Parts: sequence; C-alpha cells; structure tokens
Amino acid sequence: MNQRSVLVTGGAAGIGLAIARGLAAQGHRVLLADISDSVHAAADSLATPQAPVHGHVADMGVEAQVLGTAQRAAELFGGCDILVNCAGVSRKRDGQPIPPVEVLTEDWERVLRINLTAPFLLSRELLPGMRQRRFGRIINIASRAGRTFVAPAGVDYAASKAGLIGLTRHLAGTYAPDGITVNCIAPGRIETALSSLSSPEIIAAAAKAIPVGRLGNTDEVAAAAVFLASEPASYITGVCLDVNGGVFMA
Ligand SMILES: NC(=O)c1ccc[n+]([C@@H]2O[C@H](COP(=O)([O-])OP(=O)(O)OC[C@H]3O[C@@H](n4cnc5c(N)ncnc54)[C@H](O)[C@@H]3O)[C@@H](O)[C@H]2O)c1
Repeated sequence: MNQRSVLVTGGAAGIGLAIARGLAAQGHRVLLADISDSVHAAADSLATPQAPVHGHVADMGVEAQVLGTAQRAAELFGGCDILVNCAGVSRKRDGQPIPPVEVLTEDWERVLRINLTAPFLLSRELLPGMRQRRFGRIINIASRAGRTFVAPAGVDYAASKAGLIGLTRHLAGTYAPDGITVNCIAPGRIETALSSLSSPEIIAAAAKAIPVGRLGNTDEVAAAAVFLASEPASYITGVCLDVNGGVFMA
C-alpha cells in the first residue's frame, strides 16, 4: 500500500480523532488541525515511527487560518492526498435547538463558515495537487440532519450539512476523471462531546428510534472513512454514506 498524506480537520477529538487513528494505523502521514491546542497531544498519541502525525492549531471559521492549514500540509508533505473535513459545530441553548426565528445572523454565518466554507476552501487549495498526482480522496463529514428533518439539529447546522452534501456531489462530478473521489458520510447520533450537547431526554428519544438500539461510536464512523479513503474504493464517488444504525428504515 502507498503511504499517503492526510489532513483531518477537527482531529483533536471525537469522530475526527478516530478517523485520524484509523488512517495512521494504515501507515499514512497525518496532519491534524483543530481549534483546540489539545491537538498536539492527540497527534503525539497517534504517531508511530512509520506514520508521523502532526498537530496544527487553527480555527476553521477564519479563512486565513484555513488557508494556513493547507499551507502547513504543503510544507510538511508537499500537499495532501486524503482530505477529511470533519471539524463541525452545532449550537444549542440549554440542550435544546435554537428556534430558526431566533438564530442571529452572526451565529448562522459562523456555523456556515466552519461546517461548509472551510471544506470548500481546503478542497480548492488541495485539489490542484491531487489532480497533478492523479490521486485524491476527499471525505466530508456531513450529518443525517443534512439529509432529512432532524428537529434537535438546528437550522444553521442542517443547512450547512445539506450544503456539504451538494459540495461533495459537485466536486465528485467535476474531478471524477482525475483519479479523485469525493464522498461524504452522514452520521446519525454518535457518542461524542458534540452530541452530548443535547438534553438527556432528546438523546434517549433519539436512541429509541434507532433500529440498532443504541447510539453509534466514533470507530464505526472511522471504519467507513478509512474504507472510502482506500485505493480499492476508487470506483465510489459522489455518494453520501449513511452511518446511522438503520434509522432510514424505521
Ligand atoms: N456526534 C454526532 O452525533 C454527529 C452526528 C452527525 C455529524 N457529526 C459531525 O461529525 C463531525 C465531528 O463531530 P464530533 O461529534 O466528533 O464532535 P466533537 O465536538 O467531539 O469534535 C469536534 C472537533 O472539532 C473541533 N472544532 C470545533 N470547532 C472548530 C473550529 N472552528 N476549527 C477547528 N476545529 C474545530 C473541536 O475542538 C473538536 O476537537 C462534525 O462535523 C459533526 O457535525 C457528528
């Protein structure tokens, strides 16, 4: 297997950290970008002599820092073969979603910048190198809330994730002839800090509606990402893979 260069945003915790662990275990070189400076400890915990893992502190809501992250990947690895856009935020008030008519413009814009604009900017910066090398994988972590109505999600979050699915499809179609696949994963409710922002009542009701009978865990999302990043997944592009315990059958 070829050793690839990987960038995972939101890689200090939760789903991003699990994906980075999975890709480092494949022997790839990894750069983790995160707003939290715990990203350095996370990187140290994953590194092996064969698979160096670097941490980089950056806010995906600030364009200059997003571009700085692409630049860091270029300095370290000469580019990036596998981009995983995982950094994402969801705003709650006392464990409840904020009603659409009460969402402030500045909060809407920040959610959109982190969840949707940053994946676009990183794709824009890194796709030329992928095209040149005729290999690339972009994996966007969307959400069930971008696929269907999920009341606890919040309007800004739902819109950003639906947009990410559209971005995925457009990039997939455009770069399909170049050896680049672009896919997204739409997790249902996965046990992380982000999902625990919802009240215990909301979480219990969500779990009841899942055919598998429980929330998902981060390794179950990471397994899907590692597969989509792999070379044998070369004929899969433009898909949105639902990792949600069978919720769409219910
Ligand atoms: N947990 C779920 O149930 C669930 C469901 C569907 C989709 N998702 C998506 O999965 C992704 C990861 O979520 P998670 O549950 O692992 O969350 P998490 O809160 O456990 O981890 C998110 C990571 O992103 C980082 N981050 C937050 N804002 C950032 C910013 N502005 N710039 C850079 N890094 C930032 C955090 O510091 C953290 O390390 C998100 O895009 C989320 O929308 C999660």
